[in-house]
Amino acid sequence: MILVTGATGFVGREIVRELAEAGHPVRALVRSEATSGPIRPWVAEVARGDVTDPASVRAAARGCRAVVHLVAIRRQWGARTFEAITAQGAVHAVQAAVDAGAEHFVLMSALGLTDNPTTGYMKAKKKAEEAVRASGIPFTIFRPSFVVGPGGFVEEYAGLIRKAPFVPIPGTGRYPVQPVDRRDVARAFRRALEVPAARGRTYDLAGPERVSFEDFIAEIMAAMGIRKGRLHVPLAVMRPVAAVLERLTPNPPATTDEIAMLEAGNVGDPGPAERDLGVTPRPLREAVQGAVEGLRREGRL
Ligand SMILES: NC(=O)c1ccc[n+]([C@@H]2O[C@H](COP(=O)([O-])OP(=O)(O)OC[C@H]3O[C@@H](n4cnc5c(N)ncnc54)[C@H](OP(=O)(O)O)[C@@H]3O)[C@@H](O)[C@H]2O)c1
Repeated sequence: MILVTGATGFVGREIVRELAEAGHPVRALVRSEATSGPIRPWVAEVARGDVTDPASVRAAARGCRAVVHLVAIRRQWGARTFEAITAQGAVHAVQAAVDAGAEHFVLMSALGLTDNPTTGYMKAKKKAEEAVRASGIPFTIFRPSFVVGPGGFVEEYAGLIRKAPFVPIPGTGRYPVQPVDRRDVARAFRRALEVPAARGRTYDLAGPERVSFEDFIAEIMAAMGIRKGRLHVPLAVMRPVAAVLERLTPNPPATTDEIAMLEAGNVGDPGPAERDLGVTPRPLREAVQGAVEGLRREGRL
C-alpha cells in the first residue's frame, strides 16, 4: 500500500491515477469526503486526516510500504501558514512514515529552491526537504517547475486571458521558465517508486524547453485560439499592490512571494530524471494543448 497525501489536488489526482493504473494500491489521505469523489475510482482506500494532526497521519500511514507527500500551500492565510502546512505537515508525514516502518518517502518540493531561500513558500519547502533528509528513511525528492495540465496555473491564467481586455504580463515577462506536463510528473513519481536508482536522489522535473514567462502565456493563448493585446505591468507597481492585497484577501491576483519567485526564474535540468526514471518530458506545445483540451472537455473553459 502507498499512502498519498494531497491526493485530491491538481497534481495528486494524476499521481493516484498513474499509480493505480500501474497496479499500485493507493491509500489517499483526505481532509473531507466531499473532495474525494474524483479520486474514488483510483484509490483502494481513503483515510480521513489532516497534516496538521500528526495522529491522523500516523494512523493513515500504518501498513504502508511508501509515503508520497504532496501537501503544501501556495499562499498562506490565517492559521493556514507555510510553517504549519508545508513545513510541519512534512515533518508529521515523515515521522508517520518512519513509525509505519515504510521503506520509501517521496516528497514534492519545488524547482528554484536554493540553500538560502528568501520567500516563505521556499523556506517551508527547505524545511520539508531537511526533515526528509534527516529522517534516515530512503527518499526521493522532486522539484517541479510550473506543472501544466487541465487545472492549476493554466486554468487560472486561461480565465484571465478569456476575461481581461488585455492579457496582463508581469514586468518584462522575460523570466525563464521550463513548464512540465502533469502526466510526466505523475510518471516520474511512479517510476521513483519502482526504480531502486531513485533512492537518495533529488530530481528537477522540467520540460524540454526553456522559454520566457511571456512566451509560456503566448502558448496558452495560442492553444485557446485567442489573440489579444498584452499589458506589461511593472513589478514596481505589482509588488506594493500585492503586499496590500495579500493582507486583505486569501486570493489576490498575485502575492509578493510569487512575484519574487517569478523574477528569480524557474528552470532546471530534466536530464537526471530522464536517465534514471525513463521520463522524457513532453514538448511545451503538446503539454499546453493537452491542458487546454482537457479544460474544454471538462467544461471549465
Ligand atoms: N501546481 C504546480 O504548478 C506546482 C509546481 C511546483 C510544485 N508544486 C507542488 O506540488 C504539490 C501539489 O500541488 P497542487 O498544485 O496539486 O496543489 P493543490 O491542487 O492545491 O492540492 C493541495 C492538496 O493538499 C491537500 N491539503 C491542503 N491542506 C491540507 C492539510 N492541512 N491536510 C491534508 N491535506 C491538505 C488538499 O486537500 P483538499 O482537497 O482537502 O483541499 C489537496 O489535496 C505541492 O507540494 C506544491 O507545492 C506544484
